[in-house]
Amino acid sequence: MARYAPARVVTNEDFEKWLDTSDEWITVRTGMKRRHWAAEDQATSDLAIAAAKGALTDAGLQASDIDCFIIATVTPDYLFPATACILAAKLGAVGKAAFDLSIACSGFIYGLTVASGLIRSGVYKRILLVGAETLSKIVNKSDRSTAILFGDGAGAVVLEASERDSYLAAELGADGSTPQTLFQQSGGSRCPVTHSAIDAGLQYIHMEGREVFKFAVTSMISATDIALARAGLDRHEIKFLVPHQANRRIIDAAVKYLELPPERVLVNIAEYGNTSAASIPIALAEAVEAHRIADGDVVLFVGFGAGLSWGAVVWRWHDYHSERE
Ligand code: ACO
Repeated sequence: MARYAPARVVTNEDFEKWLDTSDEWITVRTGMKRRHWAAEDQATSDLAIAAAKGALTDAGLQASDIDCFIIATVTPDYLFPATACILAAKLGAVGKAAFDLSIACSGFIYGLTVASGLIRSGVYKRILLVGAETLSKIVNKSDRSTAILFGDGAGAVVLEASERDSYLAAELGADGSTPQTLFQQSGGSRCPVTHSAIDAGLQYIHMEGREVFKFAVTSMISATDIALARAGLDRHEIKFLVPHQANRRIIDAAVKYLELPPERVLVNIAEYGNTSAASIPIALAEAVEAHRIADGDVVLFVGFGAGLSWGAVVWRWHDYHSERE
């Protein structure tokens, strides 16, 4: 497990220099204080590589030990080829399976499910799963309603076949009937890049914040409850809830309903902002580094995002270090 965030830190006070906003508004409405933004010459694969190398070192493995590379991202280096192909090549693992998974902030949760399925069915033994984003590249820095929200980063984990199954249960869902609630309108086949699209700013993230907010709270709660019921566990058996970090108020509302004590909820939104598919693995990596998670703990990952999409995975944390002892 490992994480990476670019060196450049953008604070709430920095935004005050060019936007009609304030540290107080951003802090109260979102819980964010800082976020990391990639340098001009840094793309998503660069962040992914840094996190992936850390995860391989942590696992005591080489890239050649990995059978399949998956990156969950909505900010790939290119629309194609998949950023995971570039990652695998840069790590020296040409010839291995590699693909991207595009389901926005639910990406790491969907990725855990896909990777676990591939491992459980015997297709692959080891998978490197990365959540990586450079949202600063697709946000309109003059739009105060979105510019302040997003950050860049990457988190990576090596998943390995084991007698002890970590993947206990999941709930995944999507409702694509209103894609315009949260989307990057231009760049795909519906609205290709043209001068007029760029003039209209359609290459940037567009979000109907209030709609997303309402959906976020209800989807987090229901996904958590359904996944826990499938795992046959009670809420109080969750050692840590690792929510997608989109807004402190969204997390607080869901946690209040779920009646979880604050010390069991991993929140780092003040430091990173919303890093989409990277937010859950970054929060998890921080907790692992701080030795907060012990072998056998039940960890519940829950997220939501563009799609609209949502998901929760109930996971029993098995440390590969103890596994191999
Ligand atoms: N600074 C100051 N004022 C602002 C700012 C800002 N940065 N941004 C918006 N405002 C203003 C608005 O213009 C509005 O002013 P008005 O009342 O004069 O019209 C007022 O603040 C309230 O705006 P709202 O949008 O209603 O504010 P809200 O409390 O809903 O907070 C926010 C906005 C933070 C975006 C919230 O709606 C939210 O977090 N939504 C969910 C976002 C989310 O989870 N996104 C996931 C996306 S991740 C992915 O899939 C890529």
